[in-house]
Amino acid sequence: MDDKVKDTEAKRHRWLERCPEMGTEPVPVARITDPQYYEQERGKIFKRAWLHMGRASDIPNKGDWFVQDVAVAGTSLIIVRGKDDVIRAFHNICRHRGSKLALEDKGNCSGMLKCRFHGWTYDTKGKLSYVPQEENYYEPLRGKQNLLSVACDIWEGFIFINLDPEPKETLLEFLGPAADRFEGYPFDSNPTELIYRGDIKANWKLVMDAQAEAVHAAFVHVKPWPGLFAGEDSPFANYLDISFYDKHSSYTLAVGNNYAPTEVEALALSMGPSVSSSGDGANQICKKLNPSNDPNWIFDCLVLFPNFIIYCFGGVYHTHQFWPLDHRTTTWDLRMHLPEVKNASELFSQEFAKIFLRDPFLEDGVINEEMQKAMESGAMSHFHMQDNEALVRHCYWVAHNTVMAED
Ligand code: FES
Ligand SMILES: [Fe+2]
Repeated sequence: MDDKVKDTEAKRHRWLERCPEMGTEPVPVARITDPQYYEQERGKIFKRAWLHMGRASDIPNKGDWFVQDVAVAGTSLIIVRGKDDVIRAFHNICRHRGSKLALEDKGNCSGMLKCRFHGWTYDTKGKLSYVPQEENYYEPLRGKQNLLSVACDIWEGFIFINLDPEPKETLLEFLGPAADRFEGYPFDSNPTELIYRGDIKANWKLVMDAQAEAVHAAFVHVKPWPGLFAGEDSPFANYLDISFYDKHSSYTLAVGNNYAPTEVEALALSMGPSVSSSGDGANQICKKLNPSNDPNWIFDCLVLFPNFIIYCFGGVYHTHQFWPLDHRTTTWDLRMHLPEVKNASELFSQEFAKIFLRDPFLEDGVINEEMQKAMESGAMSHFHMQDNEALVRHCYWVAHNTVMAED
């Protein structure tokens, strides 16, 4: 390595020191391919962890609701902002004969949620308030057969739920120091949401883990992002910094020091925050960004167990959520959160950003599907990770510890 290269690229095995317990062993392919292992993940991980649902600002008015199907836990949820302004979560199930209460993705219920099968009606606290022909039933219903509530809490405007009827920890206890590390980022100042969503034929951990390292950007994303992360000073796009917080982790990345945006990209960047940003203004946006104070800083990324990632850039942020449909299919839900557009120049900047991101993520999805096929071929028994894939190793380690934990 020459002296132009950053220390993070030159020093070997530096990140393992931050979490030596996770070891250095290759990971068995069966954790991706075995349907029984997936069944254990469903019960031990997804039915017990706090899971992100959406933003409180997605349901700004009293009576607003949205539905999130959680196939991995075999249920559908309805998240409602009550007349009292409190956000609650319920199983999306009518207590009469089990019809799905809300069939659309979102709406406003004017204070009452009515089942369209036989008209049972609930208030926004989930209380059964009206039953047609109530006198013809044989048992008392109102006040008893209420919607089945699910633990729900909010951190920095992100709504989380927990399907465990008695969660072992609060949301803040679950997030631990990860919450503190990203607290104060102006998540609410980016009301515009651009969504890419698609089903990838690969295990949820494979789809997620490509977003927990950037080394692959030096190889697979060279066409759409030449030199963006892999520069003269960072030929392998290594992490600039990483942290572990029990089940969660974070990493920081810089652009290559010789990165030269194309003319159209430079124009888009000059017209508003979109993708790239410099380290100079990071601290003004949130003091906790850019912990290494690198002038070429581009983002800090929070990897929340089990299936949620937030990229915090200077002025925009992205969320990625990975919903397993079965052990070899994952819905990847990517949302770019951008400031409200005020003029045509800013619109151009955001439209450019949308396309700038689309192709690299498509490249990731295609590779994930090929990896799944390779792992199912039976030709290989384990896969390997180096030190600059430490967050990927950590994801597999945490998931496995959770699956193996005694009840
Ligand atoms: S199933 Fe909902 S009212 Fe009958
Ligand atoms: Fe990628």
